[in-house]
Amino acid sequence: MLRPRTLFYILALLFSSPASTHPSQPLPSLPISTNTQPKVILDNDWNPTAFIAFLLPLYYNHAVLGLASDTANSWALQTGLHALASLEIASLSSCIPVYKGSDYPLLQTAHTFQTYEVLHGKLPWKGVFAKENATNEQLGNDPTSGDPRRVVKEAFTTKEHYGFPNGSFAEGSAAEFLVRAVRENPGQVRIFSGGSLTNIALAVRLDADFAKNTAGLWIMGGYVDRFLEQAVGDVLRADLVSDINFVVDPEATKIVLTADFPNITLVANSANGVIPDQAFLDELVAVNDNPLSRLVRANQPTYLPFWDETAAAVMVDREGVVLDEVEVYVDIDTSYHSPFYGYIRPYQAALMPPGLRKVKYINKVNDTKVAEMIKTVVQFPPRDCSELGVGGGV
Ligand SMILES: *[C@@H]1O[C@H](CO)[C@@H](O)[C@H](O)[C@H]1NC(C)=O
Ligand SMILES: *[C@@H]1O[C@H](CO)[C@@H](O)[C@H](O)[C@H]1NC(C)=O
Ligand SMILES: *[C@@H]1O[C@H](CO)[C@@H](O)[C@H](O)[C@H]1NC(C)=O
Ligand SMILES: *[C@@H]1O[C@H](CO)[C@@H](O)[C@H](O)[C@H]1NC(C)=O
Repeated sequence: MLRPRTLFYILALLFSSPASTHPSQPLPSLPISTNTQPKVILDNDWNPTAFIAFLLPLYYNHAVLGLASDTANSWALQTGLHALASLEIASLSSCIPVYKGSDYPLLQTAHTFQTYEVLHGKLPWKGVFAKENATNEQLGNDPTSGDPRRVVKEAFTTKEHYGFPNGSFAEGSAAEFLVRAVRENPGQVRIFSGGSLTNIALAVRLDADFAKNTAGLWIMGGYVDRFLEQAVGDVLRADLVSDINFVVDPEATKIVLTADFPNITLVANSANGVIPDQAFLDELVAVNDNPLSRLVRANQPTYLPFWDETAAAVMVDREGVVLDEVEVYVDIDTSYHSPFYGYIRPYQAALMPPGLRKVKYINKVNDTKVAEMIKTVVQFPPRDCSELGVGGGV
């Protein structure tokens, strides 16, 4: 059943939202006909504007049970602090808990990553395994390499409309939370991954029933044409197809992509299409000046695509967003002495090695639609926890 408060929220959005005074900004249709609210946990390497990835499921009537942080662009402690800061600014801290993820990937380290680059060439985007650089951190960049337990406050305090969080993490690790939430809601919890797959792999190994008792897995990652693109493109173009989420933890990625989730959806190359320009960012605030639209306008780069947001849009409105998808068997190269270490290998059934499974691979999305969805959720976020149908926490 749709909870009355959810219905109220939907009606309030439909009838009183300022969008009605902006006919050029149609609200996406909401799935009001479903009678069970989908539940979701989002695991991500959070940053100052990555919260758009959880605004999408909130807007589309999902119950967000909690956020998990992972190590991919920076260490899980720092990315988790970004999740706490975003929730505080969104006035959602009291209904959405944040669980800190594993500091380290299963095997990959700064040393193995940097040695790989000496052997096989540089990756355009190195994420958490870029060399530690104190100057860079003082300028407000998230920590890379070195001690995973250090916090760089400047990455919060130097940014406009942002701040260091005052809240704290929920008790227990992200992997334990994933296991517990799925045990308590068998068959109901969607898992979203926008960073490395370390926590989700740990959950798969902690509980043999975890994967099959979820309601599916959505992953941002799995680029298939990196080498061609990199060979013919300029540096920026290469940057757009660097599959850091998988490369940070190749072994975890393999565990996850061979586990028995009811379904796995990969969004990779098709997430490169929506890149905001200044007009896009200005419009967010012009249509509705709120703490989140201001934060996005001040801090969203105008040269990077909305990767995680595109994957989240596929999760919340597949019918509306996906233009082309295929089913394919995939493997991950986990041989350290390989130039393809951490990269995906797609197979047809006749040629594949044993032990692989099919995934749903999104080839093309409707960029116009995704851009509209992103604008809408940033312009009209919930004002606080009372506007959400179901509070988080299990
Ligand atoms: C460290 O970061 C600063 C500021 O971004 C940069 O100018 C410098 O080149 C970096 N040092 C190294 C060794 O990469
Ligand atoms: C935490 O509180 C301090 C002091 O009031 C404030 O400056 C900071 O912005 C707050 N953090 C967030 C994320 O709102
Ligand atoms: C994924 O599996 C869940 C649980 O069986 C099901 O409800 C959902 O419709 C499936 N989604 C896709 C995209 O296949
Ligand atoms: C893409 O989305 C836009 C905006 O919602 C819509 O007008 C258009 O028809 C869609 N295109 C396709 C090919 O579905």
